[in-house]
Formats: sequence, structure tokens, C-alpha cells
Amino acid sequence: MKDNPIKRIHFQKIDSTNTWSKQNVDKIEKGGITLVTAAEQTTGRGRYNHQWISPPNQNIYASFVFFLNLKQQNLGNIPQILALSAVNTLQKYGVHAEIKWPNDLLINGKKLGGVLCETFQKGQEVVFIAGIGLNVNMEEGELKKIDRPATSILAETGKGADIELLLSDLSAVFSVNLERFLKEGFDPFYESFKNSLCYKECDAVQFHNHQKLFKGSFEKINPDGSLKLLLEDGSSKTFSSGEFI
Ligand code: BTN
Repeated sequence: MKDNPIKRIHFQKIDSTNTWSKQNVDKIEKGGITLVTAAEQTTGRGRYNHQWISPPNQNIYASFVFFLNLKQQNLGNIPQILALSAVNTLQKYGVHAEIKWPNDLLINGKKLGGVLCETFQKGQEVVFIAGIGLNVNMEEGELKKIDRPATSILAETGKGADIELLLSDLSAVFSVNLERFLKEGFDPFYESFKNSLCYKECDAVQFHNHQKLFKGSFEKINPDGSLKLLLEDGSSKTFSSGEFI
């Protein structure tokens, strides 16, 4: 994968870069990463059927699309690798984002960005679509349209950022990290992922795993990237998906 330059497909306006990628997988070359981007999304999608507000020319709306071997292990870590790549990239811009497990990007508890990964099987391979939305130059008025506390690089730092430059930095960081993850697994990323989290040990939390609400405190992130909570009844429970409330 690393020997191939990232191929770019860009739209001025599209429903969703993830949806387009799913529907047009035949246009995606095998053996490398294709980066599908848009200046505006009309039906941007977040996790769990949330809408992703995607006004024109203000933010990053991007999907990294690639084919993986069916035997590739631990695909569930790839969204975490993408979120961590974004945190590392943003640091170079003086922006200190944190990860809300599993892969939300926050600054001071406000949502800066998020990752939506989708996969399906095609022949003997898995098509992986790793979508990321990052609020870059969104102003307060637009941010207020989002149904939860949200922020942007502009709102946090008082100055905007060059979307293309940021995207190109993020792509470079993600492709190196992805290549390493595919060879070495999550181990090389574990420490920096842990250090990027917004929750620290013993923080009181509420967590929904889409079946049930759990109350307790944050215990740790396991070496495989899963979440361990200490519940109110004194027991510990590990989760591989869900969201903090
Ligand atoms: C979330 O935090 O809920 C995930 C948000 C993911 C948004 C990005 S924007 C590019 C790609 N296309 C989409 O429709 N969604 C993802």
C-alpha cells in the first residue's frame, strides 16, 4: 500500500463521501488508498444515524478507501488509528484535540470531528471506508446548528486553517500509521492512544452500548483498544463498541 501515492477523487457537492464510496467501489483502484473528498455534503452521516452538518468550503469531509485481505485482523482498531492520526496532525497546528473513546475528536468537551467507518466484503477482499469529518473554519453561527456542543479550529484558535494543507498532512500521517498497523497491530499505538483520551482513570461516566445504559467509572483502555469500565456494583466490564453519554 505504501508504495502507491494516494489517489484523490474530489467533488464540489455530494450526498456523502462515504455513501459515494460505497456505491462506486468499482471506481476505486486496488492496492492503495483512494481519498474521496467533498467541499460540501448534502447528507453527511455520523455514527448511529446522526446527521453530519457539512456546509460548503469550511471543513474537511473525507473518506479514505482501501481494500484489505479478508484475513486482516482487528479492523475495529482502524477508526482509532484514524482518530489518533488526526490528533497527531492537529498538534502540528497548535490544536490539542482529545479522543472520546472510541474515535470522537473533542476540544474542551466540544466535538471537533468524528470518524465513521464502514466495511463490506467484495470477492476475496474487504472494502474499508474510513470517513472523517473535521470542523476547520466553521463559524459560531454554523456550529450552533449542531445538536450538541461543537467547535472548530477557527472557534478554538481564532484563526482558520488551510483545509487542503491539513488534509494533505492528515493523509500522510494516516497512510504511514495504517501501513504500520496492518503489519504490527495496535501495540505501537496503544500508549499514544491512551494518552490522547479525554477520560482519565476513576472519572465518573455513563455509557450506552446500544442495548443498555451503564453507570460507573472509567477504568482503562485494554491493549487491544477496547474499553474497560468499573461499574457501580463493583464489577468490571469490557466494551468494544458503544458511546459515552
Ligand atoms: C461521527 O462522529 O458521528 C462521525 C462523523 C463522520 C463524518 C464524516 S464526513 C466524511 C464522511 N462522510 C460522511 O457522510 N460521514 C463521514
